[in-house]
Amino acid sequence: MTVVGILGVDEKAQALTTFLWQVLEWEIEGLSWDEKECGTKRVSVPRENIWIPDVHIAEFMDEDTSPQTPYVYLYNTGHVYDDKPIRVVSSCQLVIYTFPFDIQNCTLTFGSYLHFAGEIKVIQSITVAEVLEESRQVIQTEGEWELFDIEAAQTTLEIDDGSYSEVKYYIILRRRPTLYVVNLLIPSCFLITVDLFSFMLPPDSVDRSSFKMTLILGYTVFLIIMNDLLPVTGETTPLINVFFCISLALMVASLLETVLITNIQYSSRQYSAVPHWISVVVLRYLAVVVCLPPKKKKSNRITVSLHPPATVNTIIISTRDLQSDSGDTPAVKPPLDPTLDELRRLSRDLTAIRLQMEKHFQGSKSSNEWQMVGTVIDRLLFGVYIVFISASFITIICIWSNVMGV
Ligand SMILES: *[C@@H]1O[C@H](CO)[C@@H](O)[C@H](O)[C@H]1NC(C)=O
Repeated sequence: MTVVGILGVDEKAQALTTFLWQVLEWEIEGLSWDEKECGTKRVSVPRENIWIPDVHIAEFMDEDTSPQTPYVYLYNTGHVYDDKPIRVVSSCQLVIYTFPFDIQNCTLTFGSYLHFAGEIKVIQSITVAEVLEESRQVIQTEGEWELFDIEAAQTTLEIDDGSYSEVKYYIILRRRPTLYVVNLLIPSCFLITVDLFSFMLPPDSVDRSSFKMTLILGYTVFLIIMNDLLPVTGETTPLINVFFCISLALMVASLLETVLITNIQYSSRQYSAVPHWISVVVLRYLAVVVCLPPKKKKSNRITVSLHPPATVNTIIISTRDLQSDSGDTPAVKPPLDPTLDELRRLSRDLTAIRLQMEKHFQGSKSSNEWQMVGTVIDRLLFGVYIVFISASFITIICIWSNVMGV
């Protein structure tokens, strides 16, 4: 046989459609003529007029729609040569786990439908290397599938009543993956890269979460559109679906991470100061891990700057007190009282302002700390994200390259 065309591979129906030239040759004993006397070595005779072996392909699943050839050659030695085109729709167990880098191994079994091995023995006439070379020369289709190899084996099928003689051809096909790489894998990698780089947006801006949300939306649309390109079978899930699933999961995880960080940095400052253990674990140890050394605290400087006005106040009050002691008591007291009151009120106000300020700075100190905790956790999770992405992608690429190396 010669493979002339690979018309299609239907993953859902698990069928392979090929176009073959099938050549059958057999001997009719007792039939001969003298070449010189009759003037010819061979004649073409209608099929119906001689015995034809009932050799068929066991995997045949659909009606043969190729043109019927009415004649066979009959040689003067009793040798018969029958050449006919057949369009074979054969069942084939397709394994799509490694789609789009898959290699399929489909069997075509030539054997008699009725006659046992004692009556019809099927043998290969030319070697598989010749079959392969001839097929490569005549093959017409340059579609999705490439004829990778052909193997053959002589087998017998044993059943209760006897055995059948068979020749099995294994047609090994390889998918051309360019279409899928360009249309599926590269855009998906682009989106993941954008997602990765979106970690560079400051986490305390709400933009980052909406940016990631938009990215997930875009990816979902991409998956819906590209769903038509993916093969469907019930049994196995292709690795590429796992790849898409991991990509989507990573995007969702990074969105959740952003929500968490935003929550830590925005909402937590209202609740309370950073618990001691968090500040120790995160700011002292994790910060070193992610190369973010803890900053110097600013709050001391602020307290110092508040002190001098208070001391000035006390000094002024004490000098006034001295003056009032040294001077004439009844004469000076009436004008001094309002001033003292004024000063006391001023001092009270100042204390209140100072308390308010301290409270404010206390709050901003704790919110600063939360901000810091958020930044450190963000960095840490970003690292985890990169490690996870690399690990899963390297695993998938290894599996694919293993398959391509076969
Ligand atoms: C194809 O399948 C047959 C039978 O299952 C096996 O003997 C043969 O080695 C396979 N060929 C390849 C290249 O996998």
